[in-house]
Amino acid sequence: MRTASVFLLAAALFAISCSHGTTASDPSLLQDFCVADKTSQVRVNGLACKDAKDVVVEDFYHSGLHLAGNITNKQGSAVTPVNVAQIGGLNTLGISLVRIDYAPSGLNPPHTHPRSTEILTVIEGSLLVGFVTSNPENKHFSKVLGKGDVFVFPKGLVHYQFNIGTTDVVAIAALSSQNPGVITIANAVFGSTPSIPDGILTKAFQVEKNTVDWMQAQF
Ligand SMILES: *[C@@H]1O[C@H](CO)[C@@H](O)[C@H](O)[C@H]1NC(C)=O
Repeated sequence: MRTASVFLLAAALFAISCSHGTTASDPSLLQDFCVADKTSQVRVNGLACKDAKDVVVEDFYHSGLHLAGNITNKQGSAVTPVNVAQIGGLNTLGISLVRIDYAPSGLNPPHTHPRSTEILTVIEGSLLVGFVTSNPENKHFSKVLGKGDVFVFPKGLVHYQFNIGTTDVVAIAALSSQNPGVITIANAVFGSTPSIPDGILTKAFQVEKNTVDWMQAQF
């Protein structure tokens, strides 16, 4: 009897930990939709819902991904997002989209999305892509993708894409959050405001102060 109740408790705890542990996206819906009310001052985890009777079809629509992003920049790439900021109807739906353009040798530099997994497909051209697993392994998975190929960057892991071809590349990626967030590693570490103190960066990267200053000057 006692063994049975311990077993049931263990089974219940296991079920609870599974249902939480496998939640790899935004919280699930409690209604058909919750179109963002961008005028609301209410602060919740996400955005407040506008009155359902004021919801119109345009709340679920955005036009513009036929247009290439401006890749005239140091990295030679541009990300055009379509998330809850562009489509209010994405609020609470746990999904969003980006178009990414790359010049020849263009790079979407190492970055992470704190709130989402990403699934990317190449529409035109070829890309070298990769991600690195967490400590202590820091295993690097990388692959060359051609037109129509699909690749997954697991939630939270540092990843990149690089155009290895001689023509512009276009990719489309879906992300498992209405608001995936982006942390570009170099910008966060060397370009923060105010700066991370030199003593911390010299120790972290095991380099001289002038190397840190030079890195910071690039961002
Ligand atoms: C693209 O960006 C560059 C650099 O910021 C700028 O000089 C140029 O005018 C932009 N081109 C277009 C078409 O917006």
